[in-house]
Amino acid sequence: MAVRAFMKYPGSKQLMMSKLLRHIPRQGDILIECFAGSASVALNTSYKRYILNDSNKDLITLYKLVHNDPEAVIKETKSLFRSETNNPDYYYGLRDAFNLMTCLEDRAIVLLYLSRHGYNGLLRYNSQNQFNTPFGKYKKPYFPEHEIHYFAEKLEHAEFHSLDFSTFINLAASIEGKRDKICVYADPPYLKHDTQSSVFTEYTAQGFKHERHVELDRLLTAKKQHFDRVLLSNHDGHLLRETYKGAQRIVRFKVPRTISAKTKARRPAPEVLIYY
Ligand SMILES: C[S@@+](CC[C@H](N)C(=O)[O-])C[C@H]1O[C@@H](n2cnc3c(N)ncnc32)[C@H](O)[C@@H]1O
Repeated sequence: MAVRAFMKYPGSKQLMMSKLLRHIPRQGDILIECFAGSASVALNTSYKRYILNDSNKDLITLYKLVHNDPEAVIKETKSLFRSETNNPDYYYGLRDAFNLMTCLEDRAIVLLYLSRHGYNGLLRYNSQNQFNTPFGKYKKPYFPEHEIHYFAEKLEHAEFHSLDFSTFINLAASIEGKRDKICVYADPPYLKHDTQSSVFTEYTAQGFKHERHVELDRLLTAKKQHFDRVLLSNHDGHLLRETYKGAQRIVRFKVPRTISAKTKARRPAPEVLIYY
């Protein structure tokens, strides 16, 4: 069984971890995740160092807080997991407050509440960067105390970045230590194929358009000589080959979905792992 991340995360790789770990080396010197999300891959491997990036600043601030002082985060967030806080009025009130907050640390604390009480754990922001996931109607949202501790221990030797992937990959390629075993794993938002219009793929206010996938492919192709292994996850589909032109090998596998489409016809395509 894969280790659970403390963030309940849309698109988490938790459910396909055993299949992924046939390709992502379980051990090495440095694991670099360009689109960390819940950090599920990092949590299920044993590298000497981790470098984790996600452009979601609220998320990365929360990771930094947990990394520095998990007890303090538990103390501050636990009181938000009570029966009195699990109703639409409280949720939407706190969601509105979150959208007005400018202090990143305050936002990070509230994010943990929103992700566990909001619909399906979605971290969805509109084009004005307003968090807009609806209330999730869960009976008793789980407080991930054990998982917060695990994250802090496992990722003790991690550094966290909140950059756009283009800046981050260039930064990662400049790391000293050429003899280190470095694995780069990229799990961008899914490529949108026409039949998948109901599938959640947007995580940020900026979205992730087709040209960003093309840019990512070019960058990984250009920088791959700096690393031992470069891998990328996505959905299979007609756009895949023409988008990820740098792919040296494509592995396909079927996986259970955490973000489900409404109808059978719109069921997402199988997962692929691309080797660069
Ligand atoms: C599919 S999810 C990653 C899921 C992760 N592998 C897991 O197991 O939880 C994609 C992530 O990319 C992040 N993201 C979106 N646009 C980005 C960008 N331009 N640069 C870096 N990260 C981005 C999102 O915030 C989201 O967390």
